[in-house]
Amino acid sequence: MPGKKRIRILALESSCDETAASVVEDGRVILSHIVASQAELHRQYGGVFPEVASRQHLRTFYPVVEQALREAHVSLEDIDALAVTRGPGLPGSLVVGVNFAKGLALATGLPLLGIHHLEAHIYASWLQWDDQEPPPEPAFPLVILIVSGGHTELVWMEGHFRYRRLGGTRDDAAGEAFDKVARLLGLEYPGGPAIEQVARHGNPEAFDFPRARLPGTWDFSFSGLKTAVMRTVQSWKRLRKDPLPVADLAASFQEAVVDILVEKTVSAALEYGARGIVVTGGVSANKRLRSRLQEVASVPVYFPPLPLCTDNASMVAAAAYHRFVAGQRDPLDFDVLPTWPLQELAAPPEHA
Ligand code: KG4
Ligand code: ZN
Repeated sequence: MPGKKRIRILALESSCDETAASVVEDGRVILSHIVASQAELHRQYGGVFPEVASRQHLRTFYPVVEQALREAHVSLEDIDALAVTRGPGLPGSLVVGVNFAKGLALATGLPLLGIHHLEAHIYASWLQWDDQEPPPEPAFPLVILIVSGGHTELVWMEGHFRYRRLGGTRDDAAGEAFDKVARLLGLEYPGGPAIEQVARHGNPEAFDFPRARLPGTWDFSFSGLKTAVMRTVQSWKRLRKDPLPVADLAASFQEAVVDILVEKTVSAALEYGARGIVVTGGVSANKRLRSRLQEVASVPVYFPPLPLCTDNASMVAAAAYHRFVAGQRDPLDFDVLPTWPLQELAAPPEHA
């Protein structure tokens, strides 16, 4: 709309092992998107080492925020609000981001919003890059599948800030299962991209791994599948002399995870009469999951662009924008919420 003032949000994210800062305009247009991944640092531990993660965030935030402002060609005077991930996530990592954001808010007088990490993942589907065509906006009501390293949640979203949890994992998160199975197969952390890559050369039908269907619920379970892969690997090593068929194991495991996720999500969309499906979180980068869902679903399926699937700050700014225009401003004494169920997330004033 000509003449309308654009709202620019500087957002910070540090819930796990990515130190990130972004500047986003009107909750949709990414002006800068900086992600400093610690994956290299944690690889030696085979997963995220919380103490190492928070200390690394402390070292990295200042240059990351500076770069985000520089690449967006703005200064703090051009920013309308600050946003930061408040939870859920690793307590020590969240504290570093929240304190950095509070310091910026105190120094500049800008309003600050504490954002739910899963709501941020959801709003990643509303984003576009500065130089690209806007993607179609997902139409409500939506079924949302959040699949990350820490979460696997199926959510009914009737409108902005109106969520109802349908189900979730009873044990491992989908990304956690990818990471654990990768370790069993001798692949590097993070396991999801590693499994996807070797699975390209494997046969998804080589091993018939179990799919926990949990009828009558919208819940998921991945621990039986993980155990089945572990038993197969152990008995192969015990009984056979030839090398472990890593590509076939990876492809068969990935196929089982994809089957479980696709079946539940598509059935929920059908049963509730959703107008679309949004899939988000690190595992939504998986190309097999993307193609199977597109194939099977009878409503449009929205995935964030690949760099927006895994943790980043642009998605935090996108969620913050909708809350900012609906009147949310958080007092500067808020604490982090390392375990914060999405259903306990309050709507902003104009939607409450
Ligand atoms: O959303 P995210 O960056 O962090 C959390 O909030 O947890 O998700 C990270 C998770 C990891 O478990 C990683 O292995 C998985 O997402 N992941 C993938 C792929 N890329 C990342 N899983 C399957 N296929 C991928 N291509
Ligand atoms: Zn995440």
